[in-house]
Formats: sequence, C-alpha cells, structure tokens
Amino acid sequence: MKVDVLLGLQWGDEGKGKVVDVLTPQYDVITRFQGGPNAGHTLEFDNFKHVLHNIPSGIFHNDKANIVGNGVVLDPITFKHEIDSLKEKGFDITKNLYISKKAHLILPTHRILDAASEASKGKTKIGSTLKGIGPTYMDKTGRNGLRVGDILHNFEEKYAALKEKHVKMLEMYDFEYNIEEFEKGLTEGIETLKSCIIIDSEHEINKHLKAGKTILAEGAQGTLLDIDFGSYPFVTSSNTICAGACTGMGVAPNKIGEVFGIFKAYCTRVGSGPFPTELFDETGEELRKAGHEFGATTGRPRRCGWIDLVALKYSVMINGVTQLIMTKGDVLSGFETIKAATAYKLPDGTITEEFPFELTDDVKPVYEEIKGWKEDLTGVKSEDEFPQALKDYIAYLEKQLEVPITIVSVGPDREQTIVRK
Ligand code: GDP
Ligand code: IMO
Ligand code: MG
Repeated sequence: MKVDVLLGLQWGDEGKGKVVDVLTPQYDVITRFQGGPNAGHTLEFDNFKHVLHNIPSGIFHNDKANIVGNGVVLDPITFKHEIDSLKEKGFDITKNLYISKKAHLILPTHRILDAASEASKGKTKIGSTLKGIGPTYMDKTGRNGLRVGDILHNFEEKYAALKEKHVKMLEMYDFEYNIEEFEKGLTEGIETLKSCIIIDSEHEINKHLKAGKTILAEGAQGTLLDIDFGSYPFVTSSNTICAGACTGMGVAPNKIGEVFGIFKAYCTRVGSGPFPTELFDETGEELRKAGHEFGATTGRPRRCGWIDLVALKYSVMINGVTQLIMTKGDVLSGFETIKAATAYKLPDGTITEEFPFELTDDVKPVYEEIKGWKEDLTGVKSEDEFPQALKDYIAYLEKQLEVPITIVSVGPDREQTIVRK
C-alpha cells in the first residue's frame, strides 16, 4: 500500500482541513507530517464548525487512526487547549490519536524567541503566527531540541537546561517578557501529553502499510511557504512539500501514491512577503468579504488576489501533483471577468513563466482574462449543474497545469464537495 498526500499549493488556507475530512472515509489512517499550531484547518459539517491546529483532520471519524508524525512540532500548552475544546464539544479523541515520540516540542521560551525575533525585525518581519515554529525547528536542526519522547524521563531537568540557553539568547534582543506568563499551563500540558498514546510512529506507519491499510497524509501551510522552495525568507520553517511527507513520517519515496494538490480558485496570503497578484482595490476587498478571508489561527485579514499560474505550475512540479482540488469556486460567482497570472514581469523588464529565485514586490503579474459566471454555486450537487463559464475556467486551468481537477469545493461544508467524473 502507499501513502496518499494532500497538500497546499499556495500560501496556505486552501481548504486542506475541509477536504481531508471529506476524504477520510476512504482511508484507515490520517497523519500530519510537518508544521504545528501555526496551522488552522477548518471543518464544517452538520451545522458544526471546528478549527484544528495540531490534530489531523480525520479526527471526527472515530473509527480512523490519526497520527501526529515526527516532522510535526507540538506545543503541549496549545495541544491541551485543543483537546479540551474538543472534549467540551463532546468529542473524546484520545483513543484514536497517536503521537510520535520524535515530534519536537514547542516550549514557552520558543514562543518568546519567536516574538523577540519578529519584534527586532521591525518592518521586515515575517508576520509569523508567533506560535514558536521558527525557534523550535532551529533547535531541531541545531540539535538542541526536546522531543515528545523526552517527557517520559526527567523532562523538568531537560527543559531547565534548554531554557537557560534560550534566556541567554534572549539577552541579544531588546525585548521585555514575563516568562511565567508564557509558562502558564506547561505542567498540565505535559501531563495531558503523557496521557496520550505516544508511539514510534515510523514503525507504526510502515506496519500499517504492510498490513494493507490506506493512509492519507495531511499537509499544513502551503508550497509557497516551504522553507526551501517558498518565497524565502517569508516562509515557515518546515518542508511543506511532498518530500516533507517522507521525512515527516519515515515513509520511503517509493511508498508515496496519489499527490493531491489543493488550491483556491483565486489566491490569498496572510503575513508579510511578496504576493504578485495581490489586489489592493475593491476587487480584493470583495474577495475577502465573499470568501470570509480571515486567518483561522490569528484572525488576521488575509491578503487576496487573482490566481497565480506561475506559482501553481511551480508547486505542481515540486510536489509531483497527480490530482488537483479546487476550492472556493463559489467565491468567484458574480465577477464579470476573472484574471489569471500566466507570467511575471521581472524588475529588469524580462517576462518569465518560471518562479524566480527571489520573489520581490517589484515582480508584476502578466494576466489573461477569463469570462466569469453569475450563478450561485453553493447548492450545486453535481458538475452537470456547473455554469458553462465555470466549466471553461476548470478546463483552462487543467490545460495550463497539465493535471486533472478531480474535486471542486463549492462551500465550507462537507456536503458542498463535487467529485468529478
Ligand atoms: P486550511 O488551512 O487549508 O485547512 O484552510 P483554512 O481552514 O485555514 O481556510 C479555508 C477557509 O475556507 C475555511 O474557513 C473553510 O471553512 C473555508 N472553505 C473551504 N472550502 C471552501 C469552499 O469551497 N468555499 C467556501 N466559500 N469556503 C470554503
Ligand atoms: P495552514 O495550515 C497560512 C504564515 C504566517 C507567516 C509565515 C511564517 O492553516 O494553511 P510561522 O508561524 O510559520 O513562523 O509563520 O507563514 N503561515 C500560514 N499562513 N496558513 C497557514 O497554515 C500558515 N502557517 C504559517 O502567516 O507569514
Ligand atoms: Mg488555515
């Protein structure tokens, strides 16, 4: 058996959580392989809405195993909040949630370092979610980090030693902080984590494969936020791409099956950094309003713009996407024309169809215009009901990206999902 991977092709928030939840009945196991509580994955079904941060989006199907893989970074404090808020809503998820011993821990001082680093950058800040992601991955690659397995023995001593290092690092910054504030809930968080099923996830995942079980790996963030291939330095600190699924789970490359690449029918970005197709006008505002484009983790308004095919082609290439999923087509209803960037004009006047080494604010989009549609899509039940202009838009994107669009999402609810024939 192979692992199918579903990952974002833009700057995150493409609707990964929604679609993973929709696909879960077809799988036995759902995993997360990178990122941490910087992610906010929204699920809606039966008039219920929930945002998941660290927990895989298969969790509402209680016959499925959900595994937090070794590539994930886990904050015991926010993780406890996540579990508690699910309990309050009547979901006890502790029986079908498994956590890798090798997942790295986000500690209170990582969050302080994140905040201090961002504050010191001033105007050039990344726009981090301030969840401690960067400093935790820095400690991982710097070989200083603590992992979930470390909570089982002498955690307090290990944390005290690392905290001392962090406090010294914080002296570098002109940044005031109250460490006790950040540490609130740590002991309880560690206890909650201890009560969870902690596993050697690479062994478990490969055993599942051997036993013929089907696995879906859920990406977080998006390809344009990848540490190697995204719009560096305005990226996150993990490999969000398909290759990250191998290292983040301990699965060999030849065990990867379908690669689902998910994208919005337009484009959004939250946080700082270049965004060639960003709209600063009324159209951008209309997209934000119609698409309710506010961050699921931080509540920040998302920057909105037209679809960027230069970036999408790059993402399709880097990930080896075999099937495309388009979300939020419903949000485009009512636009006379839709634009798609098919090339970039670089600061020296060169026109290119390739995603450049450095994406700067001076990189300008070259657009093609496509006819829009007026019809409301949110109640559509099959692709036969799609307006002709939407069919044409889908055909246009498939031709440009050279991969079939097999799922079209027309609203936030589970039911608002069209699987194409
Ligand atoms: P993720 O991080 O990729 O899981 O995406 P988020 O949950 O952060 O953001 C996607 C937002 O769009 C959420 O509010 C979803 O409920 C919503 N959503 C997902 N698919 C659709 C869709 O097809 N149409 C509309 N209107 N909303 C959608
Ligand atoms: P999901 O999984 C959108 C962005 C932040 C910031 C940059 C670095 O919901 O799609 P970090 O906290 O990782 O140091 O922030 O990345 N970012 C996201 N944007 N969706 C996300 O996750 C994101 N996770 C991080 O806004 O620009
Ligand atoms: Mg999100």
